Amino acid sequence: MSADRRPPAATNAAPQGAPVRFALNGRPLEAREGQSLAAALLAAGVTTLTRSPKYRRPRGIHCARGHCPNCLLRVDGVPHVRSCIVPVRDGMRVETEGATAARVDPLRAIDKAGALFPVGFQYRWFKRQNLAWRLWEGQLRRTAAETEMPAPTEVPPAERIAADLLVVGAGPAGIAAAAAAAEAGLRVVLAGRRAALGGGQRTMLEHGEGPADLQAALARVRDDARVRILAPGTVVAAFDKRYLVDAGTHVIEVTAVLSVLATGAYERAIPFPGNDRPGVMLTSALRRLALEDRVLAGRRAALVATDDSAYAHAAELLAAGMEVVAIADVRTDGGLPASAADLHAAGVELIGGARVSGIGGRGALRGLLLAAAAGERLVRCDVVGMSGGWQAADELRYVATSDGQAVVVGERARPLHPDAPADEPMAVLQGVGAVVGTRDVAAAVEEGARAGALAAANVARPADG
Ligand code: FES
Repeated sequence: MSADRRPPAATNAAPQGAPVRFALNGRPLEAREGQSLAAALLAAGVTTLTRSPKYRRPRGIHCARGHCPNCLLRVDGVPHVRSCIVPVRDGMRVETEGATAARVDPLRAIDKAGALFPVGFQYRWFKRQNLAWRLWEGQLRRTAAETEMPAPTEVPPAERIAADLLVVGAGPAGIAAAAAAAEAGLRVVLAGRRAALGGGQRTMLEHGEGPADLQAALARVRDDARVRILAPGTVVAAFDKRYLVDAGTHVIEVTAVLSVLATGAYERAIPFPGNDRPGVMLTSALRRLALEDRVLAGRRAALVATDDSAYAHAAELLAAGMEVVAIADVRTDGGLPASAADLHAAGVELIGGARVSGIGGRGALRGLLLAAAAGERLVRCDVVGMSGGWQAADELRYVATSDGQAVVVGERARPLHPDAPADEPMAVLQGVGAVVGTRDVAAAVEEGARAGALAAANVARPADG
């Protein structure tokens, strides 16, 4: 099934939801309501959720955000569910899929014979040899289609919603944009990938904490009849001013005059040997698990960094009760952020110009290996975070078109209407928050509120003319 180890430590803030019972491959487990399924499994000591299809290498939580293939599980008969963004529910039946579920999998030997497969090796090379290809083709088909499809069900008809403004992303910037637009009288659809609103501030908001203007905006979008919340609601396609939203149970077609893109940013991984092993994940995933799911992915963390956000996350992890033993900053050019001094005082070793050579330990992760003048050094830890900087989650801009009008994110576009305010034109698809590089929560809320008001100023005009 999965490579288990001792359960992780509890955070300083104990899980607050009611207890729920679920089962993994028939094994009964307990969790707390509000936790993601992947976090609940991690809390139960399950670290390997899937295996890579080719080399069968174990895979655990990587992003905790629904953006990688590492945590796919079969849930209540539905295959390939991203367990890190699905809340655990009482009575849930969870199964590992394909190679992960197999008790005996001879193909795991391929990983051990890695030396026979040079970098860049592709199985299709066998195609040059007919007999070998015929043998391999069947095997490849079997390994690629590892999961059983569910019985076909009737597809519910698509729902259609007409709105003035679609806000894609239900984090702080998106909530603020939706609230401001609704306050100005627009019909708004707010679509977020997760069932809970708030993005990275979700848990804080649930406990009535966080910036007052964000709390007020959240209350408005929940109470204002002009706001339709689609959560979960993943916008998967955009055609002209029509957007298709996957609501989990059915598809919704939203037609909106304007859209605000508040989809946030992805943290990037850092390449080094072993960075795909369970226990090595994005630092934002460590943070998300600790602060939102109240599960520590390990007791002692080492962070590999090319970005200052590692230092802010380290402070949050320390506050949550995780020991952060070191930050291995691979940058060689520049000083440390101001917060580094506090971290150093708290016992975090700061290693500048680090050269990461791998991960220690054959089974359980034992530490981070650094290349040093005197050989290799092992920084002892049981979990590793990677902070490789941020990249806009702006895929929608590449698929969005709007009847000949420029679709621009993060820039001023030409006015939607000739009499729109000259100094504040709004693009058909306007970016706010982390998707355009605004990482500060207060600034993102302000930016979102401004975009919502601006949308109202623009959308009010078609009816005029
Ligand atoms: S999608 Fe779940 S860990 Fe990446």
